Amino acid sequence: MSTNFPVSENVSRMHASSTLKAAQTARMLREQGHDVIDLSVGEPDFDTPEFIKQYAWEGLQKGLTKYTATAGMKPLTDAVVEFYAERFGAEFSAAEVAASCGGKQGLFNAACALLNPGDDVLIPKPYWVTFPEIVTFCRANSVFIDTESTEFILTAEQVRNAITERTKLLIVNSPSNPSGRVIPADEMRRIIETCVERGIYVLTDECYLFFAYPPGEVFTSATLPKDIRQFVCVAGSFSKTFAMTGWRIGYTIANEEWTRAMTKLQSHSASHPTSFVQYACARALQDADASMAAVGSMLAEYERRRDWLIPQLNAIRGFKCAMPEGAFYAFVDVREMLGDEFTTSADVADKMLNGGQIVATDGEPFGADGFIRISYATSMQNLENAIERFRNLFGTRSMSA
Ligand SMILES: Cc1ncc(COP(=O)(O)O)c(C=O)c1O
Repeated sequence: MSTNFPVSENVSRMHASSTLKAAQTARMLREQGHDVIDLSVGEPDFDTPEFIKQYAWEGLQKGLTKYTATAGMKPLTDAVVEFYAERFGAEFSAAEVAASCGGKQGLFNAACALLNPGDDVLIPKPYWVTFPEIVTFCRANSVFIDTESTEFILTAEQVRNAITERTKLLIVNSPSNPSGRVIPADEMRRIIETCVERGIYVLTDECYLFFAYPPGEVFTSATLPKDIRQFVCVAGSFSKTFAMTGWRIGYTIANEEWTRAMTKLQSHSASHPTSFVQYACARALQDADASMAAVGSMLAEYERRRDWLIPQLNAIRGFKCAMPEGAFYAFVDVREMLGDEFTTSADVADKMLNGGQIVATDGEPFGADGFIRISYATSMQNLENAIERFRNLFGTRSMSA
């Protein structure tokens, strides 16, 4: 029943998250008893490591059930500082760290604390669906950078060419959702320097920081020299790192003024992430050996799946997929299939769903029509079944030869 509710202009202009919608479709079909394979989810299929659950319980037993400081309890902000210092040699203070309810809220805080209506924000394509929506919410303009010529790896030159008089911010995500590509550390430094030289701020979404496959290196812009870092906000998350998507906790690392502005905003929205969750995360970071062992075993399993999956995908008729260096997504170019049967990649995704009961995400909401995002954060068995269904639906390259 329509109530003619007058949705605000700010929210009307936004689109609902297409990735969450795809996951919802999969859940609904499964509840209806369909044998669905969900390759849409952007979350680890692993459970949160047991020792982190134990730390949360310890926090509850200690009575950590009350409000905390808005930017997060001191043990957590201190633990972020120490963890980054030990692992990466980064130097920043606890006053530059703020805990948020997931990386998503950190990104939202960072953009809202900086942007004014009319500012230009550079966003490389393909992008994570939320970036342009946050920019829209701030009444700023997304200026997209096409990175297809460099196989979806952003370069400093592309950034330089895209800068306008009104450019205020660049949002960059590496390892990338949806492409799985990783910007090499030297190029990332050049990209950030290109911005900083022109007084442009950079928001680096490092939510997949620990999921770069060897020999690729993990790079965090938290390690940049202080004069550069003044212009950078790192958005980090516990969601993927420790398979904690439902716990809703992340953090930002930014200069003190930017952090204070973000904290002011958060003080009037979520206040802070859940108290005993903050405690569990603080203890997990302090217990770096156990944490990194957990991350290492997840990374090894994702790598095993990736190494099996990508050649299998490339053997399907009409599929072309570059080897991702990070995250847990295969970004499949299906443009060869467009023509008679399919007009857009959304049609291909529909065929996967209706003909094969496979839920995958169309590339269009990521700014990459003609591509399909496949998450391999799912079991090998599911991946094997999915490949079998793709073969039946579309055939194989050898069959077409
Ligand atoms: C690129 C990227 N950034 C940020 C997030 C936010 O994750 P969370 O809010 O769970 O920390 C996600 C989640 O899918 C993501 O893919």
